[in-house]
Amino acid sequence: MLEINHLSKSFKLNRKQKKQQGVNEVFAVKNINLKLGTNQIVAMIGSNGAGKSTILRLLTGLLIPTVGTIKINGVNILEDLNATRAQIGFVSDNTQLYHRLTVRENLTFFAKLYKMQDSDIKQRIKELSQSMQFDDFLDKKINDCSTGMQQKTNIARALIHSPTLLILDEPTSGLDIKAAQTALKIIKAQKNENSLVLFSTHHLHEVETLADHIVAIEQGQCVFSGTPNEFTAFFKADSLYQAALNCVNNSTVN
Ligand SMILES: Nc1ncnc2c1ncn2[C@@H]1O[C@H](COP(=O)(O)OP(=O)(O)OP(=O)(O)O)[C@@H](O)[C@H]1O
Ligand SMILES: [Mg+2]
Repeated sequence: MLEINHLSKSFKLNRKQKKQQGVNEVFAVKNINLKLGTNQIVAMIGSNGAGKSTILRLLTGLLIPTVGTIKINGVNILEDLNATRAQIGFVSDNTQLYHRLTVRENLTFFAKLYKMQDSDIKQRIKELSQSMQFDDFLDKKINDCSTGMQQKTNIARALIHSPTLLILDEPTSGLDIKAAQTALKIIKAQKNENSLVLFSTHHLHEVETLADHIVAIEQGQCVFSGTPNEFTAFFKADSLYQAALNCVNNSTVN
Protein backbone atom coordinates (compact mmCIF):
# COMPACT_ATOMS: atom_id res chain seq x y z
CA MET A 1 0.00 0.00 0.00
CA LEU A 2 2.79 2.41 0.98
CA GLU A 3 6.25 2.10 -0.52
CA ILE A 4 9.06 4.50 0.29
CA ASN A 5 12.32 4.30 -1.64
CA HIS A 6 15.55 6.17 -0.88
CA LEU A 7 13.60 9.05 0.64
CA SER A 8 15.74 12.02 1.67
CA LYS A 9 14.90 15.60 2.48
CA SER A 10 17.27 18.49 3.04
CA PHE A 11 16.40 21.99 4.20
CA LYS A 12 18.34 25.04 3.12
CA LEU A 13 19.35 27.05 6.15
CA ASN A 14 18.88 30.79 6.59
CA ARG A 15 21.89 33.04 7.14
CA LYS A 16 21.70 32.86 10.93
CA GLN A 17 21.35 29.06 10.93
CA LYS A 18 24.24 28.76 8.42
CA LYS A 19 26.45 30.79 10.74
CA GLN A 20 25.42 28.74 13.78
CA GLN A 21 25.76 25.34 12.11
CA GLY A 22 28.56 26.04 9.64
CA VAL A 23 26.73 24.30 6.73
CA ASN A 24 24.34 25.48 3.99
CA GLU A 25 21.73 22.75 4.38
CA VAL A 26 20.71 19.97 6.77
CA PHE A 27 19.39 16.56 5.87
CA ALA A 28 16.34 15.99 8.10
CA VAL A 29 15.54 12.66 6.38
CA LYS A 30 18.21 10.35 5.02
CA ASN A 31 17.62 7.43 2.69
CA ILE A 32 14.46 5.92 4.18
CA ASN A 33 13.22 2.66 2.63
CA LEU A 34 9.95 1.21 3.89
CA LYS A 35 7.11 -1.01 2.73
CA LEU A 36 3.88 -0.98 4.75
CA GLY A 37 0.73 -2.95 4.00
CA THR A 38 -2.92 -2.32 4.85
CA ASN A 39 -4.91 -3.55 7.84
CA GLN A 40 -2.38 -2.34 10.37
CA ILE A 41 -1.56 0.53 12.68
CA VAL A 42 2.02 1.70 12.47
CA ALA A 43 3.63 3.77 15.20
CA MET A 44 6.54 6.04 14.30
CA ILE A 45 8.76 6.79 17.25
CA GLY A 46 12.04 8.63 17.73
CA SER A 47 13.74 11.48 19.55
CA ASN A 48 12.79 15.13 19.19
CA GLY A 49 14.13 16.35 15.87
CA ALA A 50 14.62 12.79 14.56
CA GLY A 51 12.67 13.59 11.38
CA LYS A 52 9.23 12.07 12.04
CA SER A 53 7.12 15.12 11.15
CA THR A 54 9.23 15.75 8.06
CA ILE A 55 8.66 12.16 6.87
CA LEU A 56 4.90 12.41 7.53
CA ARG A 57 4.70 15.70 5.61
CA LEU A 58 6.62 14.15 2.72
CA LEU A 59 4.08 11.30 2.65
CA THR A 60 1.21 13.74 2.27
CA GLY A 61 2.87 15.63 -0.58
CA LEU A 62 3.10 18.79 1.54
CA LEU A 63 6.88 18.60 1.24
CA ILE A 64 8.74 17.53 -1.89
CA PRO A 65 11.56 15.00 -1.41
CA THR A 66 15.11 16.04 -2.23
CA VAL A 67 15.73 12.44 -3.33
CA GLY A 68 13.53 9.34 -3.51
CA THR A 69 10.00 8.25 -4.26
CA ILE A 70 6.80 7.55 -2.36
CA LYS A 71 4.19 5.26 -3.86
CA ILE A 72 0.66 4.63 -2.64
CA ASN A 73 -0.87 1.53 -4.18
CA GLY A 74 1.86 1.58 -6.82
CA VAL A 75 1.33 5.21 -7.86
CA ASN A 76 4.01 7.84 -7.29
CA ILE A 77 2.28 10.46 -5.13
CA LEU A 78 3.88 13.39 -6.93
CA GLU A 79 2.52 12.29 -10.29
CA ASP A 80 -1.05 13.04 -9.28
CA LEU A 81 -1.28 15.13 -6.12
CA ASN A 82 -5.09 15.41 -6.34
CA ALA A 83 -5.48 11.64 -6.43
CA THR A 84 -2.97 11.37 -3.59
CA ARG A 85 -4.86 13.84 -1.42
CA ALA A 86 -8.08 11.94 -2.04
CA GLN A 87 -6.45 8.85 -0.55
CA ILE A 88 -4.78 10.48 2.45
CA GLY A 89 -6.17 11.92 5.67
CA PHE A 90 -3.63 13.96 7.64
CA VAL A 91 -3.82 15.17 11.22
CA SER A 92 -0.76 17.37 11.55
CA ASP A 93 0.77 18.70 14.75
CA ASN A 94 -0.58 22.15 13.91
CA THR A 95 -3.78 21.65 11.94
CA GLN A 96 -5.73 24.87 11.63
CA LEU A 97 -9.50 24.91 11.83
CA TYR A 98 -11.67 27.95 11.15
CA HIS A 99 -12.36 29.23 14.65
CA ARG A 100 -15.37 31.34 13.75
CA LEU A 101 -17.09 28.43 12.02
CA THR A 102 -18.86 25.58 13.77
CA VAL A 103 -17.62 22.00 13.77
CA ARG A 104 -20.23 21.10 11.13
CA GLU A 105 -19.29 24.10 8.96
CA ASN A 106 -15.59 23.21 9.19
CA LEU A 107 -16.22 19.61 8.19
CA THR A 108 -18.48 20.71 5.35
CA PHE A 109 -15.87 23.17 4.12
CA PHE A 110 -13.11 20.55 4.02
CA ALA A 111 -15.45 17.96 2.45
CA LYS A 112 -16.17 20.42 -0.37
CA LEU A 113 -12.44 20.77 -0.98
CA TYR A 114 -12.53 17.04 -1.71
CA LYS A 115 -15.41 17.75 -4.12
CA MET A 116 -17.88 15.64 -2.14
CA GLN A 117 -21.58 16.02 -2.97
CA ASP A 118 -23.82 17.82 -0.44
CA SER A 119 -25.88 14.72 0.31
CA ASP A 120 -22.72 12.62 0.85
CA ILE A 121 -21.28 15.30 3.11
CA LYS A 122 -24.40 15.33 5.30
CA GLN A 123 -24.39 11.55 5.51
CA ARG A 124 -20.66 11.34 6.30
CA ILE A 125 -20.88 14.01 9.03
CA LYS A 126 -23.78 12.11 10.55
CA GLU A 127 -21.82 8.85 10.48
CA LEU A 128 -18.66 10.39 11.93
CA SER A 129 -20.42 12.41 14.62
CA GLN A 130 -22.21 9.29 15.79
CA SER A 131 -19.25 6.93 15.69
CA MET A 132 -16.87 9.49 17.19
CA GLN A 133 -19.51 10.86 19.55
CA PHE A 134 -19.47 14.54 18.80
CA ASP A 135 -23.10 15.13 17.83
CA ASP A 136 -23.49 17.23 20.96
CA PHE A 137 -21.02 19.89 19.79
CA LEU A 138 -21.54 19.71 16.02
CA ASP A 139 -23.03 23.19 15.99
CA LYS A 140 -20.57 24.79 18.38
CA LYS A 141 -18.05 27.28 17.05
CA ILE A 142 -14.46 26.00 17.18
CA ASN A 143 -13.66 29.04 19.36
CA ASP A 144 -15.99 27.63 22.01
CA CYS A 145 -14.66 24.05 21.78
CA SER A 146 -12.16 22.53 24.21
CA THR A 147 -8.79 21.23 23.00
CA GLY A 148 -10.21 17.69 23.02
CA MET A 149 -13.26 18.71 20.99
CA GLN A 150 -11.00 20.50 18.51
CA GLN A 151 -8.77 17.47 18.13
CA LYS A 152 -11.83 15.26 17.55
CA THR A 153 -12.87 17.71 14.85
CA ASN A 154 -9.36 17.56 13.39
CA ILE A 155 -9.49 13.80 13.21
CA ALA A 156 -13.01 13.90 11.74
CA ARG A 157 -11.74 16.42 9.17
CA ALA A 158 -9.00 13.98 8.19
CA LEU A 159 -11.55 11.16 7.87
CA ILE A 160 -14.30 13.09 6.08
CA HIS A 161 -13.40 11.73 2.62
CA SER A 162 -12.84 8.13 3.84
CA PRO A 163 -9.10 8.00 3.14
CA THR A 164 -7.23 4.71 2.81
CA LEU A 165 -4.08 6.12 4.40
CA LEU A 166 -4.58 7.97 7.69
CA ILE A 167 -1.51 9.83 8.95
CA LEU A 168 -1.48 11.44 12.38
CA ASP A 169 1.40 13.47 13.81
CA GLU A 170 1.29 13.21 17.62
CA PRO A 171 -2.52 12.98 17.70
CA THR A 172 -2.83 13.03 21.50
CA SER A 173 -0.38 15.85 22.14
CA GLY A 174 -1.91 18.32 24.58
CA LEU A 175 -4.97 16.18 25.32
CA ASP A 176 -6.08 15.16 28.81
CA ILE A 177 -6.25 11.47 29.66
CA LYS A 178 -9.93 11.04 28.69
CA ALA A 179 -9.66 12.97 25.42
CA ALA A 180 -6.48 11.06 24.56
CA GLN A 181 -8.24 7.77 25.21
CA THR A 182 -11.08 8.82 22.92
CA ALA A 183 -8.62 9.82 20.19
CA LEU A 184 -6.89 6.43 20.50
CA LYS A 185 -10.22 4.60 20.23
CA ILE A 186 -11.04 6.52 17.07
CA ILE A 187 -7.66 5.69 15.58
CA LYS A 188 -8.06 2.02 16.49
CA ALA A 189 -11.45 1.91 14.79
CA GLN A 190 -9.83 2.95 11.48
CA LYS A 191 -7.89 -0.28 11.15
CA ASN A 192 -9.34 -2.34 8.33
CA GLU A 193 -8.29 -4.31 5.32
CA ASN A 194 -8.44 -1.38 2.97
CA SER A 195 -6.51 1.07 5.04
CA LEU A 196 -3.26 1.85 6.76
CA VAL A 197 -2.92 4.07 9.82
CA LEU A 198 0.43 5.68 10.53
CA PHE A 199 0.91 7.83 13.62
CA SER A 200 3.86 9.40 15.41
CA THR A 201 4.05 9.53 19.17
CA HIS A 202 6.31 9.96 22.17
CA HIS A 203 3.91 7.94 24.36
CA LEU A 204 4.98 4.33 24.55
CA HIS A 205 1.69 3.18 26.07
CA GLU A 206 0.04 4.31 22.80
CA VAL A 207 2.50 2.16 20.90
CA GLU A 208 1.75 -0.71 23.26
CA THR A 209 -2.04 -0.43 22.92
CA LEU A 210 -2.32 0.42 19.23
CA ALA A 211 0.66 -0.55 17.15
CA ASP A 212 0.98 -3.68 15.03
CA HIS A 213 4.23 -2.35 13.65
CA ILE A 214 6.91 0.08 14.85
CA VAL A 215 9.09 2.33 12.74
CA ALA A 216 11.90 3.97 14.72
CA ILE A 217 13.57 7.05 13.33
CA GLU A 218 16.80 8.57 14.65
CA GLN A 219 18.82 11.36 13.05
CA GLY A 220 16.74 11.16 9.90
CA GLN A 221 17.31 7.45 9.38
CA CYS A 222 15.08 4.44 9.87
CA VAL A 223 16.86 2.39 12.53
CA PHE A 224 14.11 -0.21 12.96
CA SER A 225 10.97 -1.45 11.22
CA GLY A 226 9.07 -4.45 12.59
CA THR A 227 6.54 -5.74 15.11
CA PRO A 228 6.63 -4.66 18.78
CA ASN A 229 7.97 -8.11 19.73
CA GLU A 230 10.72 -7.84 17.14
CA PHE A 231 11.49 -4.36 18.47
CA THR A 232 12.07 -5.53 22.05
CA ALA A 233 14.09 -8.52 20.80
CA PHE A 234 16.18 -6.42 18.42
CA PHE A 235 17.10 -3.97 21.17
CA LYS A 236 17.68 -6.79 23.67
CA ALA A 237 15.12 -5.53 26.16
CA ASP A 238 12.32 -7.04 28.22
CA SER A 239 9.95 -4.11 27.79
CA LEU A 240 8.98 -1.71 25.06
CA TYR A 241 10.12 1.16 27.27
CA GLN A 242 13.61 -0.31 27.71
CA ALA A 243 13.79 -1.18 24.02
CA ALA A 244 12.93 2.40 23.09
CA LEU A 245 15.63 3.70 25.45
CA ASN A 246 18.17 1.25 24.01
CA CYS A 247 17.11 2.26 20.52
CA VAL A 248 17.85 5.94 21.22
CA ASN A 249 21.12 5.17 23.01
CA ASN A 250 22.38 2.70 20.38
CA SER A 251 21.35 4.69 17.35
CA THR A 252 24.39 6.82 16.81
CA VAL A 253 24.11 6.93 13.04
CA ASN A 254 26.38 8.98 10.80
N1 LIG B 1 11.57 23.97 7.50
C1 LIG B 1 12.71 23.57 8.08
N2 LIG B 1 13.87 24.23 7.90
C2 LIG B 1 15.02 23.81 8.46
N3 LIG B 1 15.12 22.71 9.25
C3 LIG B 1 13.98 22.02 9.47
C4 LIG B 1 12.72 22.40 8.92
N4 LIG B 1 11.78 21.52 9.33
C5 LIG B 1 12.43 20.62 10.11
N5 LIG B 1 13.73 20.93 10.19
C6 LIG B 1 14.76 20.18 10.92
O1 LIG B 1 14.63 18.82 10.55
C7 LIG B 1 14.89 17.98 11.66
C8 LIG B 1 13.72 17.03 11.87
O2 LIG B 1 12.60 17.76 12.34
P1 LIG B 1 11.19 17.09 12.55
O3 LIG B 1 10.25 18.17 12.92
O4 LIG B 1 10.87 16.26 11.38
O5 LIG B 1 11.47 16.15 13.81
P2 LIG B 1 10.46 15.28 14.68
O6 LIG B 1 11.01 13.90 14.72
O7 LIG B 1 9.08 15.47 14.21
O8 LIG B 1 10.65 15.93 16.13
P3 LIG B 1 9.57 16.08 17.34
O9 LIG B 1 9.51 14.76 18.02
O10 LIG B 1 10.23 17.12 18.20
O11 LIG B 1 8.29 16.54 16.76
C9 LIG B 1 15.18 18.90 12.85
O12 LIG B 1 16.55 19.05 12.98
C10 LIG B 1 14.54 20.19 12.43
O13 LIG B 1 15.19 21.28 13.02
MG1 LIG C 1 7.35 16.22 15.06
